[in-house]
Amino acid sequence: MESWISDLGIKRSIADSRIAIMPQYSLSSARESDRPYFGRQLSAFQSPPIRYALLADLSRYVLGGKAAVRVLEVGSWAGASAITFGTVIRELGISDSKIICVDQWDQYFVAEDRSLHYKSMNAAIAHGEIQELFYQNIKVCGLGDMVEVKKASSREVLPELESAAFDLVYIDGSHKKDDVLYDLQQAKRLVRSGGVICGDDLELLKSQIDSDAHQVALDKDRDVAADPRTGVSYHPGVTEAVGIMFDGVWQEQGLWCVERSDEQWTVPDFRAGDLEIPTHLQHAVEIPYGVLKGYEFFQLGEGFVAYPMASPNWFQHRIVGSSIEELVLLLDTIEHINNKVSVPRIVESRDGINIVSYKGKNWVADQSAGEVDFRDQGQLQRLATAGKLVETGSIGDARAVADQTRIDQTRVPRLVESREGFNIVSYKGKNWVVHQSVGRVDFRDQEQLNRLATTSVLLETENIGEAREVIDRMVKAKADTDLKN
Ligand SMILES: C[S@@+](CC[C@H](N)C(=O)[O-])C[C@H]1O[C@@H](n2cnc3c(N)ncnc32)[C@H](O)[C@@H]1O
Repeated sequence: MESWISDLGIKRSIADSRIAIMPQYSLSSARESDRPYFGRQLSAFQSPPIRYALLADLSRYVLGGKAAVRVLEVGSWAGASAITFGTVIRELGISDSKIICVDQWDQYFVAEDRSLHYKSMNAAIAHGEIQELFYQNIKVCGLGDMVEVKKASSREVLPELESAAFDLVYIDGSHKKDDVLYDLQQAKRLVRSGGVICGDDLELLKSQIDSDAHQVALDKDRDVAADPRTGVSYHPGVTEAVGIMFDGVWQEQGLWCVERSDEQWTVPDFRAGDLEIPTHLQHAVEIPYGVLKGYEFFQLGEGFVAYPMASPNWFQHRIVGSSIEELVLLLDTIEHINNKVSVPRIVESRDGINIVSYKGKNWVADQSAGEVDFRDQGQLQRLATAGKLVETGSIGDARAVADQTRIDQTRVPRLVESREGFNIVSYKGKNWVVHQSVGRVDFRDQEQLNRLATTSVLLETENIGEAREVIDRMVKAKADTDLKN
């Protein structure tokens, strides 16, 4: 067990924040029991938990001491950030408050982006589930009166809003450079003096990145890119737009902020205090532990969870347990069962070959190879060297190899095997047993074949297996006769 755990390379990435670990629950149980849901389902949890802890602290800094507050949010998704603002406002005891949430809840990631994360985000949007979850989350957190929703793009909504009316404008919508530039231009008009503009997804400042690679990422309209200088993943559109709009910003953990003093934009004198994950998110906090056997391990609530990394059904196929050891044992058991139930399967048999599938691999096996133990790596290698077994990528590839073999076979008769004075010959999908005394046979000459067949020195069989049986029978019959004589 010890060795498994060290293989896991345990790491706790948010160990430096205060985490109140809550029991895990699912989306459906949240719906049934009027609790907020920000777990993995529907990608409801958008940013690392530490950012919401920081956002809460920043909101306290900006909104504390005010009698009335107006907050504008562009990009609300399932409500994690809006509820963070709402909870802080309630905690500060500000009764005159409004949070305007602008979101179009419409597909916005480029179609060619095929990462699992964006696929699942677009699916959640397509079925209206995220918008529904947003309303549910706001309601169960008791923020229905404080939150006002404007369901449209920021380009439609922001120009309609009153200038210098907001204490805090939070930009977390589109990541495209032009959209962010637009949102920031509007935000500059909308925030009042003493207020702040802040936003998500600023992992790196323009001054920190490799400018050539950055330009390529912008030209390609990449949502996320890896900066070669720092090795950090960042959002090129956000970095570019913030860099254009402001000389300097406060930035930590991907969250950024600037403060308005009349017509000037300054870096706020904000220092994060004790960080605590907001209550509505605590049920969904996952502390990463590492990767083992293709699963990602996390501490979640009072227990642990592991998600299969390569499966599109990662949520359905997750495993949960009360300790890491239990999960590792469970994975061992799953692996053991998979190995046990998985038996080699003949997918197709033709022209003297079999297509065999076993444990996700596919082979084309010459029937002359006889019985093959697909767990015996040595045997597989020997057969491959002898040209009797070819491992292929997919079953489609296996068929292509089989077709090629068939073409080869139709061209010339093939000596499959020689034993006990007989040859087994394959030609045009047929298999013959020929006594070696016969000499050369022209398998295209049907008359010669008929003639030889009547003298029992040549016999057509269904397949190579039957050809072998025929030889065995003849050898036995001869031995019996010899014995009698
Ligand atoms: C990353 S999510 C926001 C996450 C949210 N702030 C949170 O913390 O959970 C981005 C959201 O922006 C919205 N969005 C993207 N482009 C937008 C635009 N131009 N106008 C309005 N909303 C937009 C998307 O529908 C999505 O819900």
